[in-house]
Amino acid sequence: STIEVLVFGSAIIDFICYTPRLPRPGETLHGHKFQKGYGGKGANQCVAAARQGSRTALIAKLGDDTFGTDYLQQLRKEGINVNHVNLLANHTTGVAQIAVSDGGENNIIIVVGANNKLGSDDVSLAKNVFKEAKVLVCQLETPLEATVTALKAFRHGVSIVNAAPAMDQTPKELLELATIFCVNETEAALMTQVDSIVGIKQAEAAIARLFEMGANTVIITLGKLGAVFGHKETPTKFEHVPAPHVPPCKVVDTTGAGDAFIGALAHNLARYSERSLGEHIAAASAVASQSVQLPGTQASFPYATTS
Ligand code: RIB
Ligand code: NA
Repeated sequence: STIEVLVFGSAIIDFICYTPRLPRPGETLHGHKFQKGYGGKGANQCVAAARQGSRTALIAKLGDDTFGTDYLQQLRKEGINVNHVNLLANHTTGVAQIAVSDGGENNIIIVVGANNKLGSDDVSLAKNVFKEAKVLVCQLETPLEATVTALKAFRHGVSIVNAAPAMDQTPKELLELATIFCVNETEAALMTQVDSIVGIKQAEAAIARLFEMGANTVIITLGKLGAVFGHKETPTKFEHVPAPHVPPCKVVDTTGAGDAFIGALAHNLARYSERSLGEHIAAASAVASQSVQLPGTQASFPYATTS
């Protein structure tokens, strides 16, 4: 059966240390729990879409090590088409070292390893999947050149570029090629060269700036405030979509919440093309807000309830 959501991107093993607070430079802290998880923004987004019920495929690179073989098996269990996930000899599977504080804040170091080998040739090798997919999703943990090739190969459907983690000189091409360009408030601040984005008005200003930089439709996610979006054709008209309220005491781990959002957004775009972008965003926010109430990345992503 045909693929609805195609993810071209990263797969990374997460090593998560839960700690009372984030360490300062040079400081050693006692954490209170450790968890290994399946992560990487690409795979996370793919799993989130799959759990919502989309038929999904992932194009990604793992190392030929136990992390890689375990991960491949895990992706199969999620029901994801892994025909284009390769285990590369002499490369290590990507890893992420993640600290999560009791307050739910995190910081992350990634060493992407095999993910660096995702190339433009992987787009041509998967051309049939590119032809049939309704939605393509890309991020920035794999080489930019290949991402641009993927976006150029996919002109018939909806493409989502999640420019995460942020780069400070995002090439114009990336913004122009994406149907939907989606970033969080931190990434948007970096891209538009402002110190920070707090609140809806500043997010709207950043969206306007991203239009000037080449973007078509822009979504900026604002954590508990929800998201703001706009379209280049109506550059002064913005819509705010609030997120469901989650009491602070219930927020245990926000790692991967953005990926839950993107995956659910892709699922909704592929499955319910008659609905508005605002409705898709509301549905995606609901999924993300569930994920922050459980520890881990993919481990915290919900399964669709019947709708
Ligand atoms: O977005 C969360 C993800 O970012 C984690 O799973 C980690 O692997 C990093 O890539
Ligand atoms: Na979580």
